[in-house]
Amino acid sequence: MEPRELDEISTAAALSTLIGLLFSAIVGAFLAILVLPYWLPAIGESLRGPAPKAYWYLSRASGLVAYGLLWFSMVLGLMITGRIARLWPGGPTAFDLHQHTALLSLALSLFHALILLGDRYISFTPLRIFLPFASVDYRPFWVGLGQVGFYLLALVGLTFYVRRQIGHTLWRRIHYLSFVVFVLITWHGIMSGTDVDRTWVQWLYRIAAGSVGALMIYRGVLLQLFRPINPQVR
Ligand code: HEM
Repeated sequence: MEPRELDEISTAAALSTLIGLLFSAIVGAFLAILVLPYWLPAIGESLRGPAPKAYWYLSRASGLVAYGLLWFSMVLGLMITGRIARLWPGGPTAFDLHQHTALLSLALSLFHALILLGDRYISFTPLRIFLPFASVDYRPFWVGLGQVGFYLLALVGLTFYVRRQIGHTLWRRIHYLSFVVFVLITWHGIMSGTDVDRTWVQWLYRIAAGSVGALMIYRGVLLQLFRPINPQVR
């Protein structure tokens, strides 16, 4: 997408919407930890017992949904730059969806991390959740990749809001970090996730990595090869 085209498109979600989304993820995680044991006493053992599992299930589920949204956002971004989005679903729609899915992924991954505070198997503290590679009881390196990925995703997501202020070149450089985020989070999910043993989850990683890889090759190689020599002449 050209800088001029990009400037014409406004930010999909207002900053207040993003702040509301992140706030909801934080409040949702704490309410789940504090209220669920009283609200759903029938599953008390899974919530309050010596080894509560419900928070671990919630973390796994939200991690997988956050990953799915991140994948969708990557595909849409590559469809925009690879000019496939012009055919379907249209440039502005694709750009809107691209931003919304990235921001939703950020909010869900915040929930995915915070809800681990309710889990007793991995003794996370707020500091260990947000300090990269500080998870002592559970796969610190692989969890660390998720933590670094989270910060980079936040950086890429927030620069949607300062695009005009920081200029197109810097914005684009920061935006390229999304490829690093995708690789880090894919590794994080495969190497630290419990559900990697399930066939459908293995297919999710294969299809996600395969489709993003194929679109990158299409965009990077084929579009460069068949680029018009003088783009002014059409
Ligand atoms: C502060 C940042 C993060 C922390 C502390 C964290 C922590 C964890 C932990 C402890 C697990 C293992 C859970 C299990 O037993 O299955 C996990 C798995 C996973 N995480 Fe994260 N994570 C973070 C960021 C992210 C982000 C940004 C995403 C996606 C956008 C993500 C997606 C996943 C996925 C897909 C899994 C595998 C889930 C499964 O196999 O069921 N994580 N994460």
